[in-house]
Amino acid sequence: MNMTPRAIVEYLDEYVIGQNSAKKTIALALRTRYRRMQLEKVLQDEIMPKNILMIGSTGVGKTEISRRLAKMMRVPFIKVEASKYTEVGFVGRDVESMIRDLMMTALNIVKEEFKESSKEAMYEYVLDKIVEKLLPPLPKLATDSKKADYETSKIRMRNRVLDGEMDEYLIEVNIPSASIEFNDTNMMPEMANVQESFSQIFASLNKNDRKKEIKVKEAKEMLLTEASEKLLDMEAIKKEALIRTEQGGIIFLDEIDKIAVSSKSEGRNDPSKEGVQRDLLPIVEGSAVNTKYGTINTDHILFIAAGAFHLSKPSDLIPELQGRFPLRVELESLDEEALYKILTQTKNSLLRQYHALLEVEGLQLEFEDEAIRAIASLAHIANEKSEDIGARRLHTVLEKLLEDISFDADLKSGETLTISSEFVHEKLDIVIEDDDLTRYIL
Ligand SMILES: Nc1ncnc2c1ncn2[C@@H]1O[C@H](COP(=O)(O)OP(=O)(O)OP(=O)(O)O)[C@@H](O)[C@H]1O
Ligand SMILES: [Mg+2]
Repeated sequence: MNMTPRAIVEYLDEYVIGQNSAKKTIALALRTRYRRMQLEKVLQDEIMPKNILMIGSTGVGKTEISRRLAKMMRVPFIKVEASKYTEVGFVGRDVESMIRDLMMTALNIVKEEFKESSKEAMYEYVLDKIVEKLLPPLPKLATDSKKADYETSKIRMRNRVLDGEMDEYLIEVNIPSASIEFNDTNMMPEMANVQESFSQIFASLNKNDRKKEIKVKEAKEMLLTEASEKLLDMEAIKKEALIRTEQGGIIFLDEIDKIAVSSKSEGRNDPSKEGVQRDLLPIVEGSAVNTKYGTINTDHILFIAAGAFHLSKPSDLIPELQGRFPLRVELESLDEEALYKILTQTKNSLLRQYHALLEVEGLQLEFEDEAIRAIASLAHIANEKSEDIGARRLHTVLEKLLEDISFDADLKSGETLTISSEFVHEKLDIVIEDDDLTRYIL
C-alpha cells in the first residue's frame, strides 16, 4: 500500500464524482499510515491514526467511496454497519467481532500472497503425487539399472501429465476430510477453540477410508488444497496476518448515525444504541481483543465512520466517541452537473450498465447527450421536490424511463435505439409535474 495521496484520489475519481475533500482526507490518512511504517519503532508507537467521520446526506457516495477503497487496497479492510451490532450481554453481534472479521480478511490476504509465492512448489508437489499414482510402484529390492529406468519413465510421465495427455485417466486420491471450518467470528475465541478440537477429533475418526477415484484433470485441482496444507507455513501466515491487522487494518464503520440517539427523541432514549457506542470506545481508542489467532491490539487500526445524520447530529453521539473521530469531512449534495457526470464519466456508469444489459438481447441502446442532460435535470428536480436521495434518484428515473423498452427488448433484437431528449420529456414530464406521482413513482 504505497500509493501516493494523489494516486488514491485519481483512482477514486474514476468511480466517484466530486466529494473532493472526503477523498483527500482519506487519501492522506492512508498515506500517513504508510509514512508511519517507515519510521523507527519508538516513533511508530507514538503516532496514532486520526479517525475520520464522513458526514453527508443519503446517496452522495459515502458507501461508494468505501467500496472502491476496499477493492483497491491490499491492506486488511472491512466495511461494517454500526447498526448491526448489539451491546455486550445482549443477543447479537458484539462490536469486538469486527476486529475478528478484520483478522480473517488479513488472513486471506496473507494466505493468497504465500500461495502466490509458493505456487511453483505447490505445482511440483501436485505433479509428483500424480506421477507417483500413475506409475506402478518400484519394488523394494530393485537393481540400480531398474531404478534408473524408473527415473526416466517418471520424467516421461511428468511430461505427459503436464501436456494433459493423462487428463482422462483415473487415479485414487485421498479426499481431504471435509474439515469443518469455524469462521464464525461472532464466537468467543474460547468457544471457537473447543469447536475446533471437536472437529479435529471427528476428522481423525474417519480419516482412513476417504479415498476416491477421480480423473487426473480433477486431481490437479484437488491436490492443490493438499499441497497448500502441506507446504504453507500456517503459523507464519497467522503471525504476519496479525501484524498486518494491527498495523495496517482499516475499519469502515458505516451508518454510524443509526446508533446516535437523537436529542429530539428525548424520553425514549435507546439504551442499547448507547451501549453499542460505549462498547465501541475502547476498540476505537485502542484495546486488546482476543481472537482465536491471538490477541490483537487495536491501537493503530484506522476507523472511518460515515453517516447521513438526517435524524441525528454528530453531537448526538456520546462525547467520548465524538472525540475519537477528530477528522470531519462533509460530502456535498449532488447538483445537476454532478448527476450528469455520474451518468457519463464514471466507470461502469448506469448508462453503461443498461447498455450492456440490453445488448444481451441484441438491442443497442444509445443516449443523445441532450437526453442525458434531461435525465440529470429531471432527477435533480425530483430530488428537490421530494426527498433528496442523491444519485439513487438516477436509478428510479432511469428505471421508469426505460421500463417499456427493457420489457420489449427481445422484440427489437438487431436494432439500434437512440434515446432523445424529446423521448425523456415525453415519458417523464407528467410524472415530474405531478407532486404525488413524483413522490410515489420516482
Ligand atoms: N458522488 C458520486 N459519484 C458517483 N456515484 C455516486 C455518487 N454518489 C452516489 N453515487 C451512486 O449512488 C448510489 C448510492 O450511493 P452510496 O451507497 O454511496 O450512498 P451513501 O452516501 O452511502 O448513502 P446512505 O447514507 O443512504 O448510505 C451508488 O450506486 C453510487 O454508485
Ligand atoms: Mg451508505
